[in-house]
Amino acid sequence: MTALEAVSDRPAAAGQATRDEALARDVVEGLTRSPKRLAAKYLYDALGSHLFEAICELPWYPITRGERALLTRERDAILARLDDPATLVELGGGNGEKLAILTAGLAAQDRAATVHLIDISETALARAGRTLARHSSIAVRGHRGSYADGLRAAVAELQPGRSAMVLFLGSNIGNLAPSEADRFLADVGAALRPGDSLLLGTDLVKPEQELMLAYDDPLGVTAAFNRNLLVRLNRELDADFEIEQFAHRVVWNAQESRVESYLVSQAEQTVCLPGADHCIRFAEGETIWTESSHKYRPDDVVDMAARAGFAYGAQWIEPAAAFALTLFDAP
Ligand code: AVJ
Repeated sequence: MTALEAVSDRPAAAGQATRDEALARDVVEGLTRSPKRLAAKYLYDALGSHLFEAICELPWYPITRGERALLTRERDAILARLDDPATLVELGGGNGEKLAILTAGLAAQDRAATVHLIDISETALARAGRTLARHSSIAVRGHRGSYADGLRAAVAELQPGRSAMVLFLGSNIGNLAPSEADRFLADVGAALRPGDSLLLGTDLVKPEQELMLAYDDPLGVTAAFNRNLLVRLNRELDADFEIEQFAHRVVWNAQESRVESYLVSQAEQTVCLPGADHCIRFAEGETIWTESSHKYRPDDVVDMAARAGFAYGAQWIEPAAAFALTLFDAP
């Protein structure tokens, strides 16, 4: 499995049965480990995608707001780097709302564009397609599947001699462990052609209390987002998780520069997952690690991409949110 696949799902073409088997296999693999873990990519079923969108509206979650402000502020500088007609490829863009900032700018400049959307979530792709289809000069191509497969499909459709910009926004890269991020960037670099570019959105290190509020908000939306993973396993694997028996817990790991999210068993209990042919025992206080959200210093981002052969182009920082957009030239 490549790092690209590590953060996303199987393509739709592989069929529902294959997807369920992959889920069952990954869940058994993760829950029979010590310590237990589940992959963050499984947080994004239809409800999970909606809960994530709600998180983006929370006053305590700065990523989306900061990135939106940067894209709006630096829009013309970013658009100046695009060819005509322009080609944009967004990996895991969710509802398409951020890409729409750029496509509205292109439309305002009377420029035509093709945008390729690659997303694991059917719901997200459908919504993004509707959002971006508002301008008749913008053609939208959706690729439902993993970043690896989607990027391959999009690159196969690119016009020779016309450069493309790949967008990987929202600090989605932060879900990857450093070695996975290196692999991911190397894979993206290998898929691109000279002249192509990469725009990377990354959340920056900020005070611990701010990070705690961002990932354990007073409304409990992030807790619901995390616990919904168990709701999903109850539905898709016929599991019998008692949702109220698992609490959301967040830890700032300063050493690794990441927020770690867990589900903590509130009692000694056994949970059965008939769809995965397993029952799993939990001790009281035992954790399931569900997500890492890495935080960077501005130079970390440049170094990380440089290791994959990307050349630094520009970096813009939103100080209020402590968020960075960094532009690179493909290897
Ligand atoms: C979409 C992976 C960037 O880590 O900040 C938000 C997901 N998790 N709140 C993040 C998330 C909890 C988010 N990413």
